[in-house]
Amino acid sequence: MITKLLLIILFFFNFILIYFLNKKKIRKLFLSSKIKKVDISGVNKIFELIKISNNLSGPKKETIIKSFSVSPKNNIVGMTSDYEAWIISSLSKISKNIFEFGTCSGKTTYLMALNSCEDTKIISLTLKPSEINSIEKNHKDNKVSFRNIKNESIYEKFLFSGTEAENKIKVIFQNSLDFNEKNFEKDMDLIFIDGGHTYSIVKNDTEKSFNMLRNNGIILWHDYVPGKKSSKDVVKYLEELSKTKQIFHIENTSICYFQNKI
Ligand SMILES: C[S@@+](CC[C@H](N)C(=O)[O-])C[C@H]1O[C@@H](n2cnc3c(N)ncnc32)[C@H](O)[C@@H]1O
Repeated sequence: MITKLLLIILFFFNFILIYFLNKKKIRKLFLSSKIKKVDISGVNKIFELIKISNNLSGPKKETIIKSFSVSPKNNIVGMTSDYEAWIISSLSKISKNIFEFGTCSGKTTYLMALNSCEDTKIISLTLKPSEINSIEKNHKDNKVSFRNIKNESIYEKFLFSGTEAENKIKVIFQNSLDFNEKNFEKDMDLIFIDGGHTYSIVKNDTEKSFNMLRNNGIILWHDYVPGKKSSKDVVKYLEELSKTKQIFHIENTSICYFQNKI
């Protein structure tokens, strides 16, 4: 009996030891992206590099962008990384009709406006801070993502407010669950889905985006981060969707993308 107990204890400690020695590999196995990864050069030709010398390649002029930084001291919530912002800005240069789910501080909206053509139209849909209590949690929704909706719905003025870029932007204060996309059917060249990160909202925003996307148009989803609590529903929904739609995960970003190829 004692030998049996000792064997069980030994087995248990061995198991723990193996786990700690291979923690990184095991976590990687379970938390790695299940969506096929692509390098940014696979998304559009504008991202292919030009050779400068044998050991140096650089960006094409199509991806030289106007940008800005906001000091981390400002504690702005819900922002994209610089690399992600560069990708979205570059794609904005070749897009005439742009739609964004989730404005927040308006960082990405501002970049879209700064980098797109004169006649580009940008619509950004977001929640009014005063209407935040109208949002209800669906039983399928992740708690952390639901809480974040409240934490991120705090702006009524945006980084682009009062600037020339504002002329291109129309902000719609509305819950995306109530938004009727029928007026924008097959209109959009670029759609950025970065609104509520709960399962029910990502699903709603995605289904509406597919209706609004024009031929060759692109949908980008933000915050595909396997293993991150606040991204749990985004990951779950996109991995389900990738079984029926050709979705790719852009390397070194939390962005997934789909192109409506004809
Ligand atoms: C992560 S932030 C967006 C960040 C912004 N796209 C950027 O790049 O700077 C999420 C935004 O989505 C909005 N949002 C959350 N749920 C929403 C809903 N159901 N309908 C409309 N907007 C929603 C929040 O109010 C918040 O402004």
